[in-house]
Amino acid sequence: MAATYRVLVTDKLASEGLEVLKADPRFEVVVDSKLAGDPQALRTALGEADGVVIRSGTMLTPEVLRGQTRLKAIVRAGVGVDNIDVTTATRQGIVVMNTPGGNTLSTAEHTLALLLALSRNIAPACASLKAGRWDRSKYTGSQLAGKTLGIIGLGRVGQAVAQRAIGFGMKVLGHDPFLSPDRARELGIEPTPLAEMWCRCDYLTLHVPLTEETRHLIGPAQFAAMKPGVRIVNCARGGLIDEPALIAALDAGKVAGAAIDVFEPEPPPADDPLVRHPKVLVTPHLGASTEEAQISVAVEAARLLIDFLGEGRVRFA
Ligand code: MLT
Repeated sequence: MAATYRVLVTDKLASEGLEVLKADPRFEVVVDSKLAGDPQALRTALGEADGVVIRSGTMLTPEVLRGQTRLKAIVRAGVGVDNIDVTTATRQGIVVMNTPGGNTLSTAEHTLALLLALSRNIAPACASLKAGRWDRSKYTGSQLAGKTLGIIGLGRVGQAVAQRAIGFGMKVLGHDPFLSPDRARELGIEPTPLAEMWCRCDYLTLHVPLTEETRHLIGPAQFAAMKPGVRIVNCARGGLIDEPALIAALDAGKVAGAAIDVFEPEPPPADDPLVRHPKVLVTPHLGASTEEAQISVAVEAARLLIDFLGEGRVRFA
């Protein structure tokens, strides 16, 4: 039986997801990650596809999407759709879906890993010992227990971070206009306005999408209002923090350290001052990079596409 639907996969997708698509004889699967770096070739390839599965490496810009007539569905294997021009897609009648549940725990665990690593100087202490030094006093850390953590964004990931931070004995403040104060309290989180959050927290972590409203949510004014010695973790999106303002706050000693998993742009330039800053711990957007999360988002993405193209059912995960 000839395949009815052609699906393009332009970012690395776990093989379990590809297998789900390939097991359905109605689907022809074309995997080509080189397209992610070539907008013109991507546009041409999409002209011959019914659906596309992407992660964060493929930019579906207005130029790439405009005029597409065959393409019916975009599935983001992951949460953030900031690499997709949803407005243009919608105008073209292309449905955009994502898989927000699959990488919640991995991202929450990475956030905790960064909080702990930052507090206990894990990266510099490791580098120092490997270089032949035994600097015990230089790397005296700070305990999480008893400290106040501010969580900006109490969706799936923010809530999972709160639960784990409470397990570490932290006091958790949270801000999210979409979560009722009563529900926040049930979760053990003190609902807190942003203005109050800055001056009360020893640690801050961000779990909001990047939108026009959240871009540079933390900038010079917010750093100025923060408690001296605050530590900041960002596993959400690069543009949420004004990076030059963060560097200035680190240099001034206002911020004791930052752990950054996400950048603007990605990857950051090799000589990026934030990446190179001695008080900054960095990872290359690894929040969702666990075997479990990648399998989960890939399988879910494949199922969403089959349901939509094959059965005509739109299912928002
Ligand atoms: C997401 O938005 O799902 C995460 O940032 C991970 C990713 O981009 O793949």
